[in-house]
Amino acid sequence: MRIFSGIQPTGAKHLGNFSGGFRQYAATQEQGDAFFCIVDLHSVTVPHDPEDLRARTLDLAALMFATGLDAERSTVFVQSHVTAHAESAWLLGCVATIGELRRMTQFKDKAGKRESVSVGLFTYPVLMAGDILLYQTDIVPIGDDQRQHLELSRDIAERFNSRFGETFTVPRGVYPEAGARIMDLQQPGNKMSTTGGNPQGTIYLLDPPEAVRKKVKTAVTDSGREIIHDPNEKAGISNLIEIMTVATGESIAEVEKRFESSGYGQFKSDVSDAVVALLEPIQARFREIRDDPAELERMLAIGAAKAREASAPTLEKMYERMGFTRPKGV
Ligand code: TYM
Repeated sequence: MRIFSGIQPTGAKHLGNFSGGFRQYAATQEQGDAFFCIVDLHSVTVPHDPEDLRARTLDLAALMFATGLDAERSTVFVQSHVTAHAESAWLLGCVATIGELRRMTQFKDKAGKRESVSVGLFTYPVLMAGDILLYQTDIVPIGDDQRQHLELSRDIAERFNSRFGETFTVPRGVYPEAGARIMDLQQPGNKMSTTGGNPQGTIYLLDPPEAVRKKVKTAVTDSGREIIHDPNEKAGISNLIEIMTVATGESIAEVEKRFESSGYGQFKSDVSDAVVALLEPIQARFREIRDDPAELERMLAIGAAKAREASAPTLEKMYERMGFTRPKGV
């Protein structure tokens, strides 16, 4: 089984990324041949600071290993180190349509907030489709916010296959049962997010314990007293229940049962304890790994070599099927 997922290096990583991303990466790497990609080409679709991008790329690699990726088992690499990604984006951009890209809600949200919108922000989902399809991916562990992009990748794969002959495996998205969409603690109607969120409502993976406690304590909750999961009527409490499941591995029902006779205050205090207990060891490992940038760069170079080798046959097939001549014998 082939597993592929990607995560952007810019922006501080938060508990939503942990739930839909990191923890699923560590779990799915056990199921087969896994590729995890630091998608730096995606990070330049909005204005960015080059120095920040450079620094955060290595930091993200450290965080991926700190949250459980095993360099022996998984291939961890940087997207721009493998040129097949940019090449496949061009080829697939001639298969995807403007109509389907216009329907992407993430594009509409992000573009709506800016005066000037890059072409890259519009074609971003095509780059993502190439990431996935180049590896003949069976499953893509992601959060719910990437569902529409994944569906588009499937459509593009099917269209390419029917137009040019069987080339791609059609991938399937894998979403966490609870915690597929962690919400902002201050605005439980919006997802927890690096770009659109409220920093007071966002638990960053590198937040010190005191910051976590303060954010959970001041989280918006609902009137009423019961700790039950009902996202429509009790968005704030339901979100905290899901956060508890992410931190402890319990099910929603188990959390509800455990807090059957507790009040909101006690529940919030236990949620913050659980999140702090989750994050502390991750932060300690992160600091250790980040302190050896040469070793990180070495691991990423090995990852890039493996990813190049794994993606090359599919890229070659794409060129051939689409009718390109290939350089021979030099
Ligand atoms: P990115 O970098 O925004 O997010 C990384 C992962 O975190 C998940 N996530 C969440 N999960 C639950 N609740 C939330 N509030 C939350 N916020 C983020 C995301 O779903 C994602 O799994 N376009 C992608 C990166 C990408 C990619 C790929 C992913 C590029 N190519 C190929 C999979 C396959 C993105 O920007 O994710």
